[in-house]
Amino acid sequence: MTSRYHRLDRFLSARLQISRSNLRLLLAGGRVQVNGQVEGDRQRRIGPFDRVVCDGEILQANRPRYLMLNKPAAVVSATRDDHHPTVLDLLPEDQREGLHLAGRLDFNSTGLVLLTNDGDWSRQLSQPENQVRKHYRVTLEKPLTDDYVTAFAEGMWFEYEGITTRPAALKIRSPFEADVWLCEGRYHQIKRMFGRFDNKVLTLHRLAIGKLVLDETLQPGEWRALSALEVSSIFS
Ligand code: URA
Repeated sequence: MTSRYHRLDRFLSARLQISRSNLRLLLAGGRVQVNGQVEGDRQRRIGPFDRVVCDGEILQANRPRYLMLNKPAAVVSATRDDHHPTVLDLLPEDQREGLHLAGRLDFNSTGLVLLTNDGDWSRQLSQPENQVRKHYRVTLEKPLTDDYVTAFAEGMWFEYEGITTRPAALKIRSPFEADVWLCEGRYHQIKRMFGRFDNKVLTLHRLAIGKLVLDETLQPGEWRALSALEVSSIFS
């Protein structure tokens, strides 16, 4: 994984295309500011969200951004697709730049999707060790039995990946409807788990990721920014 942090001198020479001696002059002359403070240390580490200004020109002003979106069916969880609309297409053009998805949903799955430009945050969300549970509501073709609860809790062997799924919780809400909580996200995981019982998933809706619950005022296709509290409390 490449580091998202760069030394200030490397950052400046890449952005300004200037010689080393001019770089030293810039720094010694107090002409570079990082997050509002004059910075003279060429070895200072610059992260993706540090604000860097040189001679009054903003070289980097990236702010971390975090959005939740209520994904409709028939939309691809990707930033580009040649055949179908993507979740990014649901945002106004001026909101799209630099965003990526923090966890996908299948084409016909619906519900909570998170978008951000903060790679550290999305990486933490996806790491199973962080135990961020995702809550799904599922409807099925055939009636459920208590055997499903046991099988989900024990984990299932996935031949293709060569892994046993982590313990998952399943609560039967009615004969054809269940809630499922997963703390990992294998390819088509829920469909494959119900597939073991030869039971087809008819609808799959994500209600929550960690502590963050899909805002019920968001209609399918609508989005909103997360509050600072929501961004930090998702892991708690
Ligand atoms: N599991 C699936 O099978 N599909 C999803 O979209 C999410 C989890």
